[in-house]
Amino acid sequence: MKHFLSIEDLSERDIHHLLDRSFAFKNIRHYPRYAHYTLANLFYENSTRTRVSFELAARHLSLSVVNLDIATSSENKGETIEDTLKTLAAMGIHLFVIRHLQEGLPAQLAAYADNYHILNAGDGKHAHPSQAMLDLMTIVEKKPRLDQLKIAIVGDLRHSRVANSLQHLFRQVGVKALTLVAPTIWQPQTVHFGEVTDSLPEGLEGADVVIVLRVQQERLAASEHLDLPYYQQHYTISTQAMAYAKPDAIVMHPGPMNRGIEIANAVADSPQSVILTQVQNGIYMRMAIIESLIG
Ligand code: CP
Repeated sequence: MKHFLSIEDLSERDIHHLLDRSFAFKNIRHYPRYAHYTLANLFYENSTRTRVSFELAARHLSLSVVNLDIATSSENKGETIEDTLKTLAAMGIHLFVIRHLQEGLPAQLAAYADNYHILNAGDGKHAHPSQAMLDLMTIVEKKPRLDQLKIAIVGDLRHSRVANSLQHLFRQVGVKALTLVAPTIWQPQTVHFGEVTDSLPEGLEGADVVIVLRVQQERLAASEHLDLPYYQQHYTISTQAMAYAKPDAIVMHPGPMNRGIEIANAVADSPQSVILTQVQNGIYMRMAIIESLIG
């Protein structure tokens, strides 16, 4: 792989290689050293998990890490992001982890990247491929028979880059059934894989894995008035809602969580919740992704 931009770019072999390496990193604490490489984090949107996870992943592999402070960078003086990348590459940076509101920007930047690698850490509503891969790692760890799994994704599917990437990934790896649960205004405009329903009981019925999405109030257009009490009444993942899923179902959330809105405290903190395992696995999966680009 030259760049890590979207799930659709990955072959089945790439996906299995990333899974194998991420589990190896989790199980073996002797990591290869890539000390002559430098990674830069360029986050034009807020992040806690993804930015820190890429930084720790890079440091575990002995890379140097630069976190560009966008607020004080020379882009505020009119420099283009292309020139920022070229400038940093001239200083010897080899990998750029980019999160940006503009959909497709990482791919556009990759088209001109001769001597460095671009990693998409989330572009608008389009894709969040490293999140999807760490979610897959977590599912495989807990429920290895993907061809027997029913997975439900619940919430704001229309604005979710995570849901887009997960649909492509679940289709690629042969998940048995995927249900996309959302009120009509949040149903996806394009479905890549799965069946859409507005009924939470129907969507959760017999599910092995329940993935809860954040209510992304910052992405809602003015026309998409959010009736929060209605959403909470019909779609919050509560203990009662989880009764529709299998008794041993796991609950996932990419974070950050809005407790009491899309997920109840009792579920987020229950033994069924693997949300913090997702966070831990994110480091190992991102180590595998970085290694696959430079190793
Ligand atoms: N899941 C995720 O992308 O979290 P952050 O916004 O904290 O990076």
